[in-house]
Amino acid sequence: MALRDLGDSIFDMTQIGLLVGKKIYSRSIADERDIDPAAVPELVAGLHQERVPAVVAEIIQETPTTKTFRLVPAGMPLFPFRPGQFLTLFLTVDGVRTSRAYSISSPPTRIGSVDVTVRGVPDGFVSAYLVDEVVEGDEFEISGPGGFFYAEPLIDTNDLVFLAGGSGVTPFMSMIRTAVDLRSNVRINMIYGSRTVDDVIFLDELTRIGLEYENINVALVLSEPPDGYEGVCGLLDAHTLDPLIGSIEGKTFFVCGPQAMYGLCDESLATLGVPARSIKKEAAGPPPDITMVEGWPREIAPDEVFTVKIADGRQRIQVAAGEPLLNSLERNGIALDNLCRSGECGVCRAGLLTGRVFMPAGVAVCKTDLAHGYIHPCMSYPISDVTIRL
Ligand SMILES: Cc1cc2nc3c(=O)[nH]c(=O)nc-3n(C[C@H](O)[C@H](O)[C@H](O)COP(=O)(O)OP(=O)(O)OC[C@H]3O[C@@H](n4cnc5c(N)ncnc54)[C@H](O)[C@@H]3O)c2cc1C
Ligand code: FES
Repeated sequence: MALRDLGDSIFDMTQIGLLVGKKIYSRSIADERDIDPAAVPELVAGLHQERVPAVVAEIIQETPTTKTFRLVPAGMPLFPFRPGQFLTLFLTVDGVRTSRAYSISSPPTRIGSVDVTVRGVPDGFVSAYLVDEVVEGDEFEISGPGGFFYAEPLIDTNDLVFLAGGSGVTPFMSMIRTAVDLRSNVRINMIYGSRTVDDVIFLDELTRIGLEYENINVALVLSEPPDGYEGVCGLLDAHTLDPLIGSIEGKTFFVCGPQAMYGLCDESLATLGVPARSIKKEAAGPPPDITMVEGWPREIAPDEVFTVKIADGRQRIQVAAGEPLLNSLERNGIALDNLCRSGECGVCRAGLLTGRVFMPAGVAVCKTDLAHGYIHPCMSYPISDVTIRL
């Protein structure tokens, strides 16, 4: 079966998902009786892998500060994923076992490898290590795919507007590449904000796709354009977006970029009259400065130190208020399962037995968990001495 036969929609991932390890297990859910029972354990393992060892097969320099890492699972088939999802990279940096989430930038139509594209954040603990020190042949563990930042044919329209900022272009690249590979007729209008031309990731490929495919439009918006630049300049505010989006009718909006962009895009889309139900936002990780987040107790300085006691253990560690608990625990050699590091997935869930933490609005702790004192340490900041159960 040719990939182009999989259907017009880039979202027909039920079928792509079954292309595991270059082997088509089933043509569709309706054909499930065709599956060889002996292949089922391998299929299930392929679909639900928690962590997989992966080798860096290739490194591509995308911009002066950004590299793509092509990862190949070692000795097992690549998991299926939907364009737009992220994976988590587990690695050891300066003796600290930690992880970071990265959107997959390659399409699921490319079988056997998966790309993540990382921009080095100044003073970033993991991104600087990845961009400056990792070489081909290095090995990491990667998680299976995570997140819900993808187009869902049962809910979303076939007319998509992507608002990307900086390295937030990566999940859109996977979606666009998938649409191209499947010759999908979904309409995509990507509006990509960057500081300078040098910062634009995938510039050549995006320009080529925008020119070649009638249903895919790519508009660059530069906030620090060079002298004489004739393209669109500014930020992704309502004034800039209005002419680039046109009518909002029947469109589904996707937003991914640095923290600062989310507030601005919320405001812009509301001004243009886009209903909240038509907007999807990718998780963004911890904010650059938690003390600037609404609700932070002004009397607590980010470098104020508190004691964290681990229940049922003898460990007590000293942590700074301004750092997520998960990071502080890892720095002290205490491992905790995690995936999104954005408060969304609940994988790092822990019990808060005594003391107080600050969790920004939007951290997805369910009501019952909240009532029973559970927290998501990846987005919890201690604002007193605390005792937690891991
Ligand atoms: C679902 C998801 C997908 C992601 N996809 C990508 C991706 O495709 N490419 C990519 O480069 N990054 C991506 N990130 C961000 C990535 O996970 C890391 O947060 C980023 O690489 C910085 O990690 P660090 O260890 O270098 O910085 P840290 O040492 O953790 O942080 C250093 C400082 O930078 C701030 N910071 C952290 N991340 C950012 C950021 N993205 N922008 C600005 N400031 C930041 C921190 O708050 C802190 O103040 C994604 C994050 C999430 C949650
Ligand atoms: S790792 Fe996902 S909520 Fe903490």
